[in-house]
Amino acid sequence: MPEFRTPNGTRDIMPPESARWEVLLARFAAAVEAAGYGLVISPMFENVEVFQRVGASTDVVRKEMYQFTDKGGRSLALRPEGTASIVRAFVQHRPPTPWKTWYAAPSFRYEHAQAGRYRQHHQGGVEVLGSADPDIDVEVIALAWSFFASLDLRLVTLRLNSLGDATCRPVYRAALGAFLQSRLPLLCDDHRARLEDNPLRVLDCKKPECVAATADAPHQLDFLCSACALHFDRVMLGLRSLAIPFVLDPRLVRGMDYYSRTTFEFAASALESAQNAVGGGGRYDGLVEEMGGPPTPGVGFGIGLDRTLLACDAEGVLPVSAVAPRLDVFVVDFAGGSAARDLTFLLRSSGFRVDRAFDGRSPKSQLKSADRSGARLALIIGPDEAAADQVTIKDLRAAGPGASQERVDRALLVAELRRRLLL
Ligand code: HAM
Repeated sequence: MPEFRTPNGTRDIMPPESARWEVLLARFAAAVEAAGYGLVISPMFENVEVFQRVGASTDVVRKEMYQFTDKGGRSLALRPEGTASIVRAFVQHRPPTPWKTWYAAPSFRYEHAQAGRYRQHHQGGVEVLGSADPDIDVEVIALAWSFFASLDLRLVTLRLNSLGDATCRPVYRAALGAFLQSRLPLLCDDHRARLEDNPLRVLDCKKPECVAATADAPHQLDFLCSACALHFDRVMLGLRSLAIPFVLDPRLVRGMDYYSRTTFEFAASALESAQNAVGGGGRYDGLVEEMGGPPTPGVGFGIGLDRTLLACDAEGVLPVSAVAPRLDVFVVDFAGGSAARDLTFLLRSSGFRVDRAFDGRSPKSQLKSADRSGARLALIIGPDEAAADQVTIKDLRAAGPGASQERVDRALLVAELRRRLLL
C-alpha cells in the first residue's frame, strides 16, 4: 500500500485549529473591506511567464516554483505569491484606477520545509494599482499594522526601506556592484557566481560570509534621487503621524525583483529569526508595464497567515478555546431516534446551533457525546417525554448529576431555549 499522507511541507488544518483560520480570514476581510478594498479570486495557476516577471534572479522563481506542463503542452506554474496574478488581472481587464484589491489564498514554493516554512502557505494581501501617492503606501502599511494589532500581537516590528526608482537605482546598483566586486572572494559560492544577475540580492543573503562581506556596503537611501527622497519622506511622515513605529533598514531588499521605492517587512520577534517575517510588501511601479499594461504604479503587502498564527501561539493570543464555535443544543433521543431527527431540523431552522447522535446509541453514549460536543444544553427525549409531548432540558455546564434538569412542553421549547440562551 502506498502511504496516504500530506506531501512534505503541506498540512491539514482541522477543527478546532481551523476555527482560528475562520476568525483570522473574517477579520482580515472585514478590515480591508472597511477601507474600500475588493476581493479578487484569481486562478491558483497561471502561465509561467506571469510569475517569471516576479524576477529571474529570485529564489522564488529560480528554485522554488511548482512548474509543470499540462496535457495541452502549456507551461504553467502554481502561484508562488499573489502580486503577479493581480497585476496580470489588471492588465487583462483594465479596471478603473485606483484599483484597490485584496486576496486570501494559498501560495506554493518548493522550499526546505520546517516549522513556519511550508510548501503551501497562505497569504492575506492587498494590492493597489494606479496610485503613486505616498499616502497609499501609508494606508497599506497601516492596514497590515492594524491587522496585527487587532489580533493583540504586541511583538511585531516594522522595518522600512526605499529601493529608489529607474533614475536612482542604476546609480546605486553600479556603486554596490563595484563594492561587491572588490569583495568578491569573500562572498558565498552562489553569489560569487551570480553577482551580475542582481547585486542587490547579496544584501538579502543570510549566509554569514555574505553578511560579513557587506557590513559596510553602500546604502540605497544615500543614493535616492530627489523625487524618491521626497516620496520616502512623505511615507515616513505619514507613519509618524499615525503613530506607527518603524525602523529604517537599508539592507531590506525583499525577495522579489519587482520592487521600487517603498519596501517594508513585519517581523514577529516572538518567532525564531529565520521564519519571523510575518508579512512584507512595497511598491512595484514598473510591474504593470512589464506585463504589457500602461505605466501604472502599484503597492501592496502579503501577510503570511500561517506564521501570523504561530506568532499568536508564541504570544498566547487568539487561543483556539476562545474562538472554537459552540453548539447551543445537543439532542439525546432514546425513544427511537425520529424525534431527534425532527427536532434537530426544527431547531436549526429556528436559528439554533444543534447537533445530535446517530445510530441508535445508548443513552449513556449519547450523553457522553453531548458533553464532548461543548453544547450548552442537552435536550433529552425518552419514552416518557415522547408520550407527554415534552422534552427534558439539561444544563451541561451545571455541576452534579441531575443538576438543573427541567421538563418543558414541546410547544414552549423554542421560547424556553431562547430565554436560556439569551438569543
Ligand atoms: P513575501 O515576503 O515573499 O512577499 O511573502 C509574504 C509573506 O508570506 C512572508 O512575510 C511570510 O510571512 C509568508 N511566507 C512566504 N513564504 C512562506 C513559506 N514558505 N511558508 C510560510 N510562510 C511564507 C510576497 O509574496 C509579495 N507578493 C508581497 C507583496 C504584495 N508585495 C507587494 N504586494
